[in-house]
Amino acid sequence: MKSIIVSMVAAAGLMVAGFAVATDMPAEGKKFCSACHNVEGKKMGPGFTDVAKKYAGDKDAASKIAASITKGGAFGWNMGMMPAKGMGAGDADVQSLAKFIAGLAH
Ligand code: HEC
Repeated sequence: MKSIIVSMVAAAGLMVAGFAVATDMPAEGKKFCSACHNVEGKKMGPGFTDVAKKYAGDKDAASKIAASITKGGAFGWNMGMMPAKGMGAGDADVQSLAKFIAGLAH
C-alpha cells in the first residue's frame, strides 16, 4: 500500500513538472538561465511569465528586461540577487531572451 502511495505521488510530481515546461525555454535560456528560472512558476528567481506580467503593457518591456538581465542584481522580487547575464549569456542571447520573456505577456 505504501509503495502505491509513493508511486502516485511520484506520478503527480511528473505531471506538475510536465505542466511547468508547457511553454518551452529557448535553447539559450536552458544554457544560461534555467538553473534559476522556469518559464512558468518560481525557482531561484521568478517565472518568466510572471516577469512578463510585471512589464505587460509597457512598450519598452523588452529593452527594460534586457537591461535587468545585463545588470543583474535585485529587482524587487525579494528572491535574492541575480548574477549579471545569468550563467554567462552573450549580448545577443540577452536580447533574444528579453524578447522571448516580453512576448510571454500576450
Ligand atoms: C544564479 C541564479 C540566476 C540565474 C542563472 C539567472 N537568474 Fe534571473 N533572477 C534570479 C533572481 C534571484 C532574480 C530575482 C531578483 C529579485 O529578488 O529581485 C532574477 C530575476 C530575473 C528577472 C526579473 C527582472 C525584472 O526586471 O524584474 C529576469 C527578466 C531574469 N531574471 C532573467 C534571467 C535570464 C534571461 C537569465 C539567463 C540569461 C537569468 N535570469 C539567469 C536568479 C538568476
